[in-house]
Amino acid sequence: MAAPYFVIPGNHDRHARLRAAFDDHAYLPAEGPINWVIDDFALRIIGLDTVVPGKSHGELAPETLAWLDETLAGSDKPTLIGLHHPPFPTGILGMDRIKCLNDADLQPISARHPHVVRLVAGHHHRPVQTTWGGTLCQIAPGVAHQVVLNFTDREMAEWVLEPPAMLIHRWSPETELITHNTYIRDYGGAKPFRLDPDYPGKD
Ligand SMILES: [Fe+2]
Repeated sequence: MAAPYFVIPGNHDRHARLRAAFDDHAYLPAEGPINWVIDDFALRIIGLDTVVPGKSHGELAPETLAWLDETLAGSDKPTLIGLHHPPFPTGILGMDRIKCLNDADLQPISARHPHVVRLVAGHHHRPVQTTWGGTLCQIAPGVAHQVVLNFTDREMAEWVLEPPAMLIHRWSPETELITHNTYIRDYGGAKPFRLDPDYPGKD
């Protein structure tokens, strides 16, 4: 199924190269932070630029924070915000030190706009969720390797070949936003459940 897709920069991206690679993506601003809003769907989608050039950690520039506050005030449609670096600590210290460091600047903006129904991030290569800034904030799993779940004081995170996965967010008016964690490799296809004939719950 062909689906529209929208891109936000991660710490390994270079702004000029990203703009050149996706030069047919008209929503990408030609200069400055790569922040954008898509208003074509029932769910409004906002992308934020957290990249600090040459660094692994993320930050939201003052102009990004001001743009976000103003953009959120412009519509009360349910809104999903995507940013590469997670704004909350996870307890995995090797990743927490390279998260979005000025999370305290973002939190009140999210909390001030209750129509923010989800914050989604990546970067940590591990599925993690918490309530944050008045909404549910989710880190997507890695689509290749995962980061090792390790709550010790290890300075550097490590990676492991746990199953690649991604988040699928489904919007409908009846359910609003529902998120599924789905695995990417070929696991052999769907198989029917077979129930005992006398199993009372077969209906
Ligand atoms: Fe990253």
